[in-house]
Amino acid sequence: MALVNENYSNLQSSYLFANIARKVAEFQKTHPDADIIRLGIGDVTQPLAPAVIESMHKAVDEMSQADTFRGYGPEQGYEFLRQAVIEHDYKPRGIQLDIDEVFISDGAKSDVGNIQELFSAHNTVAITDPVYPVYLDSNVMGGRSGQFVDGKFENIVYLPTNAENSFSPAFPEKRVDIVYLCCPNNPTGTVLTRQRLKEWVDWCKTNDTVLMFDSAYEAFISSEDTVHSIYEIEGAREVAIEFRSFSKTAGFTGTRCAYTVVPKDLVINTANGEKQALNPLWNRRQCTKFNGVPYIVQRAAEAVYSEAGYKQTREAIAYYKENARIIREGLEAIGLTVFGGIDAPYIWLKVPTGMTSWEFFDLLLEKVHIVSTPGAGFGPCGEGYLRLTAFGSRENTLRAIERIKTLKI
Ligand code: MLT
Repeated sequence: MALVNENYSNLQSSYLFANIARKVAEFQKTHPDADIIRLGIGDVTQPLAPAVIESMHKAVDEMSQADTFRGYGPEQGYEFLRQAVIEHDYKPRGIQLDIDEVFISDGAKSDVGNIQELFSAHNTVAITDPVYPVYLDSNVMGGRSGQFVDGKFENIVYLPTNAENSFSPAFPEKRVDIVYLCCPNNPTGTVLTRQRLKEWVDWCKTNDTVLMFDSAYEAFISSEDTVHSIYEIEGAREVAIEFRSFSKTAGFTGTRCAYTVVPKDLVINTANGEKQALNPLWNRRQCTKFNGVPYIVQRAAEAVYSEAGYKQTREAIAYYKENARIIREGLEAIGLTVFGGIDAPYIWLKVPTGMTSWEFFDLLLEKVHIVSTPGAGFGPCGEGYLRLTAFGSRENTLRAIERIKTLKI
């Protein structure tokens, strides 16, 4: 009889957002008239930009004619989109990338989850705490976590990230093989400074550590003192893989398109001490397990870089950033301590004294019918915090703040 991958038995409960969705569905069942406002999962609410839709329609028409129809596309993505990524996201920041360093995919979540396949199960992994759950869970599935003991996995290095260290984690006490950083950060909504990121790149170089750099929220950055790409920092090409996405930049959460940069300078060791570049391995992995993103979707993503597409998607980002301001200032006005929301669409707030983050989650759901994400769901150091997203509609954002004000907390 087949044997199951035992690593899956180490996973703790179900995936965070699936867990919350189930809780909310149960609440809705017992309170069918409740007008629920969803500020939990970071899912966009504004429609795709007109320029994106126009390009998509055109691509649909092409699929209807024999001479423009497309079957399987390149597993790495069409050149037109890879080239647009390089020209618009990297060149203006002084970063040179070769086209075969850019891999188009169906999501940053898939890529950050799948990339760990390239690494030995014996590698040590550091994550910030709190953390986007995919980094941790995918490594649990890959057998790198060890057992779950007293609220933590014994082989995972947790880097506390909280108000006390200004959301800038210290380096691991001992070297690790892989470290994940998310900047702008999900869930805390904060950014690391350019200087601190330089120190991280240097630390990774010194320790032969691979840096998984997730910048899915870079379009929300206002601060001058951080980076949009890790490759703005000298030496990063030798240590970092970067994950970017059209999900939050251009409202593609349901359309699915992202990309990952695996520089050719990034090499790690084989078991017998030889050097192995990760770029050809990722290419091999994608060719074997992935058939590329639909042509229609890649044409839609390309339109994000057109003059009209860029203007329209920036308007949507400004809209969400205004929501973030409304949430931040609304909560501050009633005496809550809030973080984030300036360079990211997430507001990370301290829950009222004496409550756990799940208790505050329940209170918001039951009393004012607002869905949030409890900080503890992102890791032990998330306890005492709660996350709200700015991706709701303006109307719902304003209504949510008015409702929270009625709680008199
Ligand atoms: C979140 O709410 O953290 C994100 O929407 C999840 C994701 O992007 O996969």
